[in-house]
Parts: sequence; C-alpha cells; structure tokens
Amino acid sequence: VAQNIYDDPGFFAGYSRLPRSVRGLAGAPEWPALRALLPELTGLRIVDLGCGFGWFCRWAREQGAAHVLGLDLSRKMLERARAETGDPAVVYEPANLERLELPDAAFDLAYSSLALHYLPDLAPLFAAVHRGLAPGGRFVFSIEHPIYMASRHPAWMTDADGLRTWPVDSYQIEGERRTNWFADGVVKYHRTIGTTVNLLIGNGFVLRRLEEWGPTDADLAAMPALADERDRPMMLLVAADRP
Ligand SMILES: C[S@@+](CC[C@H](N)C(=O)[O-])C[C@H]1O[C@@H](n2cnc3c(N)ncnc32)[C@H](O)[C@@H]1O
Repeated sequence: VAQNIYDDPGFFAGYSRLPRSVRGLAGAPEWPALRALLPELTGLRIVDLGCGFGWFCRWAREQGAAHVLGLDLSRKMLERARAETGDPAVVYEPANLERLELPDAAFDLAYSSLALHYLPDLAPLFAAVHRGLAPGGRFVFSIEHPIYMASRHPAWMTDADGLRTWPVDSYQIEGERRTNWFADGVVKYHRTIGTTVNLLIGNGFVLRRLEEWGPTDADLAAMPALADERDRPMMLLVAADRP
C-alpha cells in the first residue's frame, strides 16, 4: 500500500516551501541536466509519472508537446497542479504508479522526476511504461541516487580531522528505508544502480544515458549550499529508449 506522504498536511506544507515547489523547474538544480536528456518535444504525447505540481507538464506544452498526462497519487499535489494549469491539453489524473496502466503505444515520452524511489518494485512500472510508449519513444527519469539512499542513518559524519563524509552502509540490502524529511517515517525504497539499469534492459529498453548529477561551477557560484552535492551523488538521471 503506497504511503502517500504528500497528502500529509505537515509534509505538504514543508515540501511546498522548497525552492523547486516555489520556483518550479528553475528551482531544481538538476533541471538543466535532466532537460538535456529530453528529445525535441514538438508534437509529442507525454506522460509525467508523479507529476506533483505539474511544472514539467506546463513547460512541456510551452515547448510544443501535443498532449501531456500528469499522474500522481497525491490529491493535494493534483489540486494545486490543476489550479495552476489553464490548458485543456494538459490533463491530470490520480494514479498509483505501483499499479500503472497505460494504453498501448499511446505516448512518445514518459517522464518522471524524483518519484520512482517511492515505489517498492520498479519491474511492473517499467513494463507498463514500455507498453505505453510507441516504438522510438523515450523514458527519462530522475531518482534518488542509491549512494544517497542506502544508509540506515543517512546523515553527514565528521571525522577527527574535520572531514565530512556521507555513510554508505547496507548498499547491497535493497528495500525499504525510512527517513525523517518534513515528517517522520517517510518511506522510500533503495535499489542498486545495477538493479535499476538491469530492470530497464530486462523490460526491453536500451539505455541511452545515465548521469550521476552534481553541481557545475556556475551552480556552486550561484548556490554555495550545493557544495554538499560534490561529496556524494544525490540523484541519478536516466534516459532510455523503447526501440
Ligand atoms: C518529490 S515529488 C516530485 C514532483 C514532481 N515530479 C517534481 O519533480 O516537481 C514526488 C511526487 O511523486 C508522487 N508519488 C509518490 N509515490 C507515488 C505513487 N505510488 N504513485 C503516484 N505518484 C506518487 C508524490 O505524490 C509527489 O507528487
């Protein structure tokens, strides 16, 4: 059963104050790298898996996408997405990605930003996305990096010399991780890079690009707080093709 933490009032209030919630794509430092994985969007039929406030759905239409379907589990996220979208070619629907069903070959691009680490099993989702994409379609997603997620106590540690390190324990033990982030006991699921990549390959995708996002010098100059992200990767960005 999906946790649906985004409908928790305290979590929702906290998440709504993040730069990426206030400023949208411009407030997400990994956006330029994720954007670089996308095809030209003109005329494409797109599905956004875990669309949140719909920032990407609206942007995709500005780029000329023909139609965008935004799916999310959270009623609160969808409520705000709908309130901020006045475009009949963007449609939002409630959906649990754990049991995703898409019409066959109905989309040219499946996109997902930072939602897939909430799913206990990616196999059914990858199969559904493969079926839902037309031949030649692309699947682009970001997910929390397993080096960031693996630890049972994910917090910076400082050694006697003052060197800060991020713990990587339990890396090979996949499955549930509980963290306190805007609410206690937020449930996410850790998988190794190998598992995620092999699930893509096993479901018929051809891996096109895999990025372990980190800030550029320009990012750091604009936002010095991003320096942490040079010490360990926080996000994995993936592009795969459905041949
Ligand atoms: C970190 S937010 C990202 C939102 C948006 N993609 C963005 O990048 O701004 C994760 C989103 O995934 C959604 N989500 C989590 N688990 C889900 C599930 N099982 N099915 C559908 N959506 C889910 C949450 O409700 C939330 O809107």
